[in-house]
Amino acid sequence: MEPLIDPFARAISYLRVSVTDRCDFRCLYCMSETMTFLPKKELLTLEELDRLCTAFVGLGVSKLRITGGEPLVRKGIMTFFRAMTRHLESGALKELTLTTNGSQLSRFAKDLAAAGVRRVNVSLDTLDERKFAEITRWGRLAQVLDGIDAAQAAGLRVKINTVALKGFNEDELFKLAEWCAARGMDLTFIEVMPMGDLGNEDRLDQYWSMKDLRARLSEQYRLTDLAESSGGPARYVRLEETGQKIGFITPLTHNFCESCNRVRLTCTGELFMCLGQEDRADLRAPLRASSDDTALIAAIREAIAHKPKGHDFDYSRTDAAGRSLGQMSRHMSHTGG
Ligand code: 5AD
Ligand code: SF4
Repeated sequence: MEPLIDPFARAISYLRVSVTDRCDFRCLYCMSETMTFLPKKELLTLEELDRLCTAFVGLGVSKLRITGGEPLVRKGIMTFFRAMTRHLESGALKELTLTTNGSQLSRFAKDLAAAGVRRVNVSLDTLDERKFAEITRWGRLAQVLDGIDAAQAAGLRVKINTVALKGFNEDELFKLAEWCAARGMDLTFIEVMPMGDLGNEDRLDQYWSMKDLRARLSEQYRLTDLAESSGGPARYVRLEETGQKIGFITPLTHNFCESCNRVRLTCTGELFMCLGQEDRADLRAPLRASSDDTALIAAIREAIAHKPKGHDFDYSRTDAAGRSLGQMSRHMSHTGG
């Protein structure tokens, strides 16, 4: 089949799939304490997720990242992972991976490895138990650390994702870097995005720029820029002293759009062509209309034909320092980060 090429000649090879909007944590920058979640009938079933992912793999998607919410709280999700193993075995799919908060990894790490997962991204913002409880509201640090142990014991490569928050984890920059280096884990920092209306206005005061974070890091380490790009918003450096790779994600900049190779599927079957835009395509309707994939594939092609050139955050709203306060009305747990 013809691969998916968008109007700007970008081949779409990477699909991120949110399998649930639910989570067992309530991170301050992500969810409100009293979230209302989608009713079950709105969600794609595990079979529908399989059909959709299989269609994308047939169209040339070679990397699948499973996200949420917290993907491992979705009931029966291992059935879905095991179903994707066939695409790894056929060679069509090169990588099956997930982004998780780590809370369920003790239970699932072995099964994930057996299904062909090789790497996981674990979100972790602090190594301090009290601060962890504060930022996640409902989480326990020990459970996540056990999960990371289990993942490494199962042979999974772990990358840590840390949301950079001024006045919250600034003081842990070196501790986090050293902890990751000692455990052979890469580390990526993410600038906090103003997402939706969470009623946590403090979040905007916690903005800590990657430029600043990087400068702080270079006070202690020699940084070498790495040319490699994942096609996403991350830039990488190597710390010469430890040999580890550190990533910086600046979601509000659009300097990576020209190499964007990805689209995002929500747990209700909406396809977002760009994280920074509201434009989406409903794939659930063609999926449910027929057991034949013809209409579904046509809808996917039609959507990709509308992939925009780049981000469109609302940059007009800025604070006194000229920093963007552009708001996204969707939650990360809906689009899957
Ligand atoms: N800004 C930046 N990152 C966020 N995440 C969730 N909400 C935000 C936000 N407002 C991140 C989590 C995790 C991934 C699922 O998305 O920390 O790494
Ligand atoms: Fe859950 Fe991740 Fe959102 Fe935290 S950031 S509430 S762990 S989905």
